[in-house]
Amino acid sequence: MAARLPVYNRPLIILITKKADDAAPALLLTDAFVFSHTTNMNDLAQELNDVLEATVAGRLLSDLGRRIYFPKGIIAQSAEAKKNARLANATIGMAYQNDALVVLSALRKSVPALNPEEIAAYAPTAGLEKTRLLWKDLLAEKNTTLDPNRISLPVLVPGLTAGISYSADLFFDQHSTIFISEPCWDNYDLIFGERRGSTLVKVPFFEDGRGLNLDSIEEALKKMAQTGQVRLLLNFPSNPSGYTPTRAEAERLIAVLKTIAEGGADVLVLCDDSYFGLFYEPESIHESLFSRLSGLHERILAVKIDGPTKEHFAWGLRIGFVTFGSLSLEQHHYDALLKKLMGIIRSSVSCANTPAQSLLPDILTDPRTAIEKAQYFETLKARYQFIKGFIDSNPPHPRLKALPFNSGYFMTFRCVGISAELLRQELLNRHGVGTIAFGSEYLRIAFSSVEKEHLESLYRLIYKTAAAL
Ligand SMILES: Cc1ncc(COP(=O)(O)O)c(C=O)c1O
Repeated sequence: MAARLPVYNRPLIILITKKADDAAPALLLTDAFVFSHTTNMNDLAQELNDVLEATVAGRLLSDLGRRIYFPKGIIAQSAEAKKNARLANATIGMAYQNDALVVLSALRKSVPALNPEEIAAYAPTAGLEKTRLLWKDLLAEKNTTLDPNRISLPVLVPGLTAGISYSADLFFDQHSTIFISEPCWDNYDLIFGERRGSTLVKVPFFEDGRGLNLDSIEEALKKMAQTGQVRLLLNFPSNPSGYTPTRAEAERLIAVLKTIAEGGADVLVLCDDSYFGLFYEPESIHESLFSRLSGLHERILAVKIDGPTKEHFAWGLRIGFVTFGSLSLEQHHYDALLKKLMGIIRSSVSCANTPAQSLLPDILTDPRTAIEKAQYFETLKARYQFIKGFIDSNPPHPRLKALPFNSGYFMTFRCVGISAELLRQELLNRHGVGTIAFGSEYLRIAFSSVEKEHLESLYRLIYKTAAAL
């Protein structure tokens, strides 16, 4: 019996049952059951690995990234049948009647702009092509230095969180380290630390009132480069600080990464562009760093994670995009990398919500969208300017130092000599004001959700409460 047991490539959980008479266990673990940890790489995964082998993407893949593949199973076979099955298509698990997809009237009525397929059919694993192509066109429009011929087609995923998590699946495991800003969005801890088991190296990114702490950033990156691989995440406009680098800062950051790549280290840069477009000052860069990084050096792989969540004020639509770019990658490399990402999607959510991705092209191209987006932008910018004015026109607060901010939804105070969590509790429990504490040091204020006329009293209250602690 032992000889017939399969060779497992993952840790095996063995249930040892006892016989009713409490005699010897039904299955004994003896030396005969030493299960091999040798990896039986699937042939399709191996094919993709072979394509990527000599590239920066291949070298940066995680353990899961190497094992994953897009099966030639139900999805691939039914896509083939969709093109060639002339007599009957008996492939996919959806219901058809009179040559049309079955759909409930109540569902159809609730989304009148869409036909049954656009509402209820499964979307392709990587998303509707029309929506992906439009997003790519818009990327090139919004980022004038981006060469759209050098990047992959964006893959549609259910929100930016999913995009970050899937990228983490591909490139991070318990052997990886991620370089990340301090402070940063708290979900990165869960995604990279808890889910993927990677080590987070958090580098203080901001100086009080001024811009990026580039000396520390450069030193930490160069130290990491000595391991031969650098994986970093850049989130601009940043959550929680609300900062986007100036053009000069961006140039220096790009130069540091180029030097590291020239020195022989592979570099993965995840660009979390959630708050793209909300730039309130002329001196900050108004493009994603992905534009430059995706064509900078053969050892640099840039991954852009973006979507309409914050950018188009469509938080619950649950659409995000993942786009790859590297000087060293050709179309067949992108095809292989996209298949790996599709394997990650297929094995987790299978595909994203169809109505949302069917609606997106119309939302993006509707002439009202640009006008309303400009109005919302002005609303947020006016709040930003008010807060800047408040901080500049008041004497420096002894307990609260604003981190540099010039973009996005937020600004953050560094708390000096007091606990941010205590301040948060005081504001909430005594005054009914909600804010977010990031650890014990940082208090984030989402001015995106506070009317301008309430900002003066809000900031006076925060100043007063912090001073009294
Ligand atoms: C920096 C950052 N990245 C990603 C996300 C996630 O966006 P989504 O809601 O599309 O998953 C957020 C949301 O708050 C965010 O602040």
